[in-house]
Amino acid sequence: MSTTTLAGLPPAPAGDSGWAVETHGLTKRFGENIAVNDVELLVPRGCAFGYLGPNGAGKTTLIRVLLGLTHADAGTMSLLGHAVPRHRDLALARVGAIVDEPRFHGHLTGRQNLQILAAAREPAAKGRIEPALERVGILHRANDKVSKYSMGMRQRLGVAACLLGDPQLLILDEPMNGLDPAGMLEMRDMILSLVAEGRTVVLSSHLLDEVERTCDAVAIVDRGTVIRQGPISQLLAGSSFEVQVECSDPAGAGGVLRATPFGTHLEVGPDGLAISLPEGTGRDAIAEINRLLVEGGFSVYRLQHIQASLEQWFLEVTRRLGEAE
Ligand SMILES: Nc1ncnc2c1ncn2[C@@H]1O[C@H](COP(=O)(O)OP(=O)(O)OP(=O)(O)O)[C@@H](O)[C@H]1O
Ligand SMILES: [Mg+2]
Repeated sequence: MSTTTLAGLPPAPAGDSGWAVETHGLTKRFGENIAVNDVELLVPRGCAFGYLGPNGAGKTTLIRVLLGLTHADAGTMSLLGHAVPRHRDLALARVGAIVDEPRFHGHLTGRQNLQILAAAREPAAKGRIEPALERVGILHRANDKVSKYSMGMRQRLGVAACLLGDPQLLILDEPMNGLDPAGMLEMRDMILSLVAEGRTVVLSSHLLDEVERTCDAVAIVDRGTVIRQGPISQLLAGSSFEVQVECSDPAGAGGVLRATPFGTHLEVGPDGLAISLPEGTGRDAIAEINRLLVEGGFSVYRLQHIQASLEQWFLEVTRRLGEAE
């Protein structure tokens, strides 16, 4: 099996039919190439969940399989508690998705595009057009042709299209793609507000930083295989951290620490030291560094504990996996 469970996240509320997304042994091959390899996902409801991996890791393929746009070679899956593909229509009635880039008719306005999409849904969808346009912040441009929209506006219109079905689950393939930093920030806020309403958002991304900022939980995928999965806080809790020390005579201070266990991963800079400590190290280590330096006659101006970012953690995990091979 390729994953662990999502211990630590709140379970689905009682009376709700299980996970937002649940897959077991999900596999999709293209000839010899296994794009989705034995994937076990458990996405709790009401969270933002990141499916994070480099280009070609199999993110889009997983999403296409979940939505029934391509068939799985093996495994089972359910969306919002409905087994798919058996109850696909039931499941997809409350799922909104953007796969690859959202596609619209460029010669029509944003509102007209939504009107066409709403006509294909249940009658209530028509009444959701205006709130959806307002919700994603493009009401003032709703009468402009989509061909005049920026990438960020198209992404927002894509989310508005998702909202026509009042989805409990949104599945967004690389929603930050092509957005400038301000657009990313807006998209992130929008995702967080959708989650605050109790919806579940599953997004794929190759941007570690964005996933770390946006998502509560993450599955890290590499060559089709999920290598780690869990709440971000829990994944980071087991990672190494760094202590930065600003002190007098950094070279001399480094010399003192080199003779101790802290010397193994020590860097000396012009203003001080950076000391990497392995996972599981307690806070006492910071006090011990301080004591050694003060007793050694050095002035300590600042001690700072830096928790590894998801990016550092991700690199650490993939490096460890590489070493194990
Ligand atoms: N229709 C297809 N036919 C053959 N191979 C495919 C097809 N679609 C995807 N693949 C292959 O499956 C693997 C996963 O591709 P996929 O597009 O799912 O990755 P991704 O994680 O979405 O990448 P990106 O970050 O570039 O969007 C790749 O090796 C890709 O070449
Ligand atoms: Mg992709």
